[in-house]
Amino acid sequence: MQQKTVRVCHFHKLKIMQNGNIYPCCRGRKYTLLGNIFDENIYEKIENSDIICECSMFKSVARTPDDKINLDYIHYETSNVCQANCVCCPQSKEPLNKEKELLSKINEMIERYKPKHIIAIGGEILVQENAFSMLFDLHKKYPKMEIQTITNLCVGEERLKQAEKIFDAMTVSMLGFNKHTYKNEMGLDFDKVMNNFEYLYENKKVKLSPKYLAMPTNLFEISEFLKWALTKDVQKIYLHCIHEFKRVANVEEVFWKKTFEKLEKEIKQILKDNKENIIAKNRHFISIHETLAEFLHIDNNYIEENGFSNIIFLTI
Ligand SMILES: C[S@@+](CC[C@H](N)C(=O)[O-])C[C@H]1O[C@@H](n2cnc3c(N)ncnc32)[C@H](O)[C@@H]1O
Ligand code: SF4
Repeated sequence: MQQKTVRVCHFHKLKIMQNGNIYPCCRGRKYTLLGNIFDENIYEKIENSDIICECSMFKSVARTPDDKINLDYIHYETSNVCQANCVCCPQSKEPLNKEKELLSKINEMIERYKPKHIIAIGGEILVQENAFSMLFDLHKKYPKMEIQTITNLCVGEERLKQAEKIFDAMTVSMLGFNKHTYKNEMGLDFDKVMNNFEYLYENKKVKLSPKYLAMPTNLFEISEFLKWALTKDVQKIYLHCIHEFKRVANVEEVFWKKTFEKLEKEIKQILKDNKENIIAKNRHFISIHETLAEFLHIDNNYIEENGFSNIIFLTI
């Protein structure tokens, strides 16, 4: 059983939502709301709040006079504006009403706290001009601040090269692993994305983490994705699925039982064939969404029996 880190969570990380609400982490539990970035006294609120909370990794406790804010992360959301059209994504791709004001407040907060890492996520930040240029300026000013994002990576050469300069780490989301599925699920060009991935991979400047988002219509391609990802020396591999999988598929049906039986065999065979390589990573390397893990019968017993402890993690 993993030991929880006891700390004052919001002195280490702040998550800023699209509406400006600020929480100590991505879970954004209601009772952990610290305030809104547009509040006049937001810094006072953050620095004088006590958030008592617990998750699988952390226990957040009350401040003592010795605790000072020293942020590892500021994680913020920009608008949903995106060049893709994923079937699983919120439909509104409208810019936010007060996008410039929000970005300006976030910038101010970054300047004040100078976090070690920034995580900036859209929509698609690589095509959002204001959000992208803010990161460009921050990177120029604070080259040591690590900047991360999650992206579909489907951009032209010029933007790719600019992005390579700014970002230290990128998670690259894929909703299919062939041209046709990819085009249908995301409305984007698979070859372009694979070429862009290869370009960044060869240059080794950006830490890359490929992420597969499984849904009923792209399920079997996850095996090809995993085989491919395991040939790469990437930071992390994500095997995730849409939140609504159980709602959109009647998983109690025999159809799904048979489907997952086949997929389970394939995935476990791939893990077996690559066992040595996976174990040699000796760090958190594969993240499997717990819903997908449940369907594939990948549980903590399987993980331990196969020597994958501390390498394969089940996440929510
Ligand atoms: C909303 S996207 C924004 C970043 C970027 N545009 C991308 O797609 O990577 C953030 C992450 O949410 C995932 N996502 C999209 N729709 C989802 C859904 N219905 N359930 C779970 N994750 C989803 C995407 O695959 C991506 O990894
Ligand atoms: S690429 Fe990301 S933000 Fe764009 S539609 Fe797909 S999931 Fe949504």
